[in-house]
Amino acid sequence: MLNNVLRRNAGSRSAGFLQPGPRGSTSRVPSDSLSCCVINAGAVFLSLTYILPICCLLIGGCQWTEEPFFRLNLEGRNPSDATPLALEEASSFLRELFGTPSNPKLPPGVALDRQRLERSAGEPVGSLTPQRTASIERGLYRRYCATCHGITGDGAGPAALVMDPYPRDFRRGVFVYTSTIAGAKPAREDLRRAIARGLPGSAMPGYSHLSSEEIDSLVEYVIYLSLRGEVELLLLQYLLDEDEPLPLSVIFKERFIAEDVAAIWAEWDLALNQPEKVVVTPMRADYPPDDATFRHSIKQGREIYLSDRAKCATCHGAEGAADGEQANDLYDDWNYVKRVPLQLRKSDRQIHFMLPLRRLRVRNLREDLFRGGADPKDIYKRIYVGLKGTPMAGVGPSGSVPGALSEEEIWHVVDFVLAISAGQKAIHTPFQ
Ligand code: HEC
Ligand code: HEC
Repeated sequence: MLNNVLRRNAGSRSAGFLQPGPRGSTSRVPSDSLSCCVINAGAVFLSLTYILPICCLLIGGCQWTEEPFFRLNLEGRNPSDATPLALEEASSFLRELFGTPSNPKLPPGVALDRQRLERSAGEPVGSLTPQRTASIERGLYRRYCATCHGITGDGAGPAALVMDPYPRDFRRGVFVYTSTIAGAKPAREDLRRAIARGLPGSAMPGYSHLSSEEIDSLVEYVIYLSLRGEVELLLLQYLLDEDEPLPLSVIFKERFIAEDVAAIWAEWDLALNQPEKVVVTPMRADYPPDDATFRHSIKQGREIYLSDRAKCATCHGAEGAADGEQANDLYDDWNYVKRVPLQLRKSDRQIHFMLPLRRLRVRNLREDLFRGGADPKDIYKRIYVGLKGTPMAGVGPSGSVPGALSEEEIWHVVDFVLAISAGQKAIHTPFQ
């Protein structure tokens, strides 16, 4: 396991794509994963070509891929700087806390739904019916998501390289299309929506054909992978940056669970279980507005959009055509860090990150493509709370911090955005 971690992270950039994906999706088969098939040493007359398929037929459980494992997050590091003992300690403590991709566990105090996690975890079990997928009993994540998001939720599944933007790396615990104030985790409903409807204009498909229980199970699993990823980042910081004495002491582990894991879980707990403290609910006095009010609002919205307070035009351009002065130098948080080790040579940098640096394209607001939904209330939320993990900050008030714009002003900007996205059409059929 440890060797695998090292080998996979130390190899070329494409090493990331050799991780075991869903069964059948791995293009290269590591030779050691076939060792279970080589049982008939006496069969000297048969060539390997015959032995392997025959053995695999005889031993029903023989798999062509090794058991998937959670890959350590060494992004932004030089793997050879870390000692094997530190990596092994990190892997084994994380396994104690979170189990494996087939047998997830939860650290003490973390209240996620175990049944739902079980349903998403593991190798897919159950049959696909021609019409729908009602009888999937296990392995939802590997069946539907891992090709893009990776077994570990690192956003670097076998298909990720060709996508722009890349699939979300869940391990930072940051989600873009949310209804919660700056810094807060997403609400369950935000994740549910992204999974059920997809993110139009990106590779992320919608899964509305799944039952709501299946979608809820996937939501739970995404939260589990995120939480695990955040805990891992903190643990690696203690082990690799702060030189925590090894092997890890019982006292360290107990304190880590009681303080660090608990603090990360508390953020999730707030968004999941006390939404009234973090969720923004769009309210509008004149909703839906009549034509005249709407026209007037668009005019005001345009002025606010162009203003220094809102700064929309600096990225989106005066007419929303994605040609603002900052438009060509934007990165999301996942890619921004790849620019940091500039002192490193290019070849070194490739060792450090699974996927190459990619710029973030600012949205052309005239294309009528809203990943978080095109309803006025959706656009209100995007502008109010911003897009977390991107340079587009929210302009609404957040907790006790006053926003750059008032709620009323945000509605004017929403009307302006809708008007330029759909042209004149929006003026006549603006709201349902
Ligand atoms: C074909 C590739 C692909 C598949 C399959 C896929 N996704 Fe995604 N997913 C993406 C991409 C690409 C993004 C990022 C889009 C963006 O940033 O606009 C994404 C983003 C997300 C997000 C982040 C939403 C946010 O607000 O930040 C979640 C959650 C998510 N996917 C969950 C899932 C789940 C669960 C599955 C399986 C049921 C799945 N995805 C299957 C490509 C995929
Ligand atoms: C610092 C640059 C920046 C600023 C300032 C900015 N945006 Fe954005 N905006 C972006 C980027 C980048 C995206 C696309 C993000 C992505 O694709 O992941 C985006 C996406 C959007 C979207 C699409 C949301 C969706 O659901 O897909 C809307 C609407 C939007 N911006 C409106 C605004 C408005 C209105 C303002 C001013 C209040 C503003 N933006 C300010 C960079 C910016």
